[in-house]
Amino acid sequence: MKLQLVKIQPGFRALALSAAVLLTLGSSVLAADAPESWVRLDVPFVPTPPIVMEAMLKAASVGANDVLYDLGSGDGRIAIAAARAYGVKKAVGIDLNPKRVAEAEANAKVAGVADRVSFIQGDVFKADFTAATVVTMYLLDNVNLRLRPRILNELRPSTRIVSHQFHMFDWPPDNTVMVLDQVPVHFWVVPAKVQGSWHGKIGDDAVALDLAQKFQLVTGDLAVGDARGRIAQAKMTGDILALEGSVTRSGKAEPLRFEGKVTKKALTGTLTLGGAAHSVALQRAAESSR
Ligand SMILES: C[S@@+](CC[C@H](N)C(=O)[O-])C[C@H]1O[C@@H](n2cnc3c(N)ncnc32)[C@H](O)[C@@H]1O
Repeated sequence: MKLQLVKIQPGFRALALSAAVLLTLGSSVLAADAPESWVRLDVPFVPTPPIVMEAMLKAASVGANDVLYDLGSGDGRIAIAAARAYGVKKAVGIDLNPKRVAEAEANAKVAGVADRVSFIQGDVFKADFTAATVVTMYLLDNVNLRLRPRILNELRPSTRIVSHQFHMFDWPPDNTVMVLDQVPVHFWVVPAKVQGSWHGKIGDDAVALDLAQKFQLVTGDLAVGDARGRIAQAKMTGDILALEGSVTRSGKAEPLRFEGKVTKKALTGTLTLGGAAHSVALQRAAESSR
């Protein structure tokens, strides 16, 4: 294992293990000016190659309406590329290492995007990134896992997340792109919370939908009047729920489809049952709101 001593600023040094070894082992790195003020980096600086960066920004369909946060921003390349080549309205990098932040700020100036790109010296576990519409990361599996509750609970539903190489354990990606058949770029959309009981009406028929949710994957039961059914396939993509299944009415099976938008209190969309489409607005049962 190769050890490298990196000078950060006069009297301020970072001790970095070989990046490849670190990314494999998930070790942590120390930045120090004196033992008592060492800053523990969760990940060393390893820049994302341009081809992977492009795949990340494309996977998230980054564009002019986006506010992009790069967690652990290194030399600022992802935030800078998002502004320069993808025209985001704002990009923010967060990095614990002050040397990286200074370098990134200088790079943004040279690239002519300093008016839209800024860098925060801070810890990704504490800094506020709730304004993001897109979050990019090149961290580690276990760091992603530790960030996961913040991503799922603090970010708005529909926020897009892209990770160079590292995953989120049992939160499966919505898409994975392999760069040069070798490097995975994982993509997730933060799902709205839909779990619980929902009630409404189609004409005189009462509609009751009971949903269980694990990340973007949803299962459940549906009743419409005297018809009963099990949902075979359902998925949240941001705040959009799409589900398919069938209901049985008077011993006869009828196909069922729903697509609609979830808010804290309502699930509004189109329910297609036995070939007929109905607009529905279901209300969340009070005890199941989260
Ligand atoms: C693998 S590099 C990725 C750099 C850049 N995002 C890229 O893809 O080119 C990880 C970066 O995370 C930073 N870092 C490590 N732990 C951190 C933490 N807890 N909070 C903020 N940044 C951190 C490191 O200083 C390093 O610059």
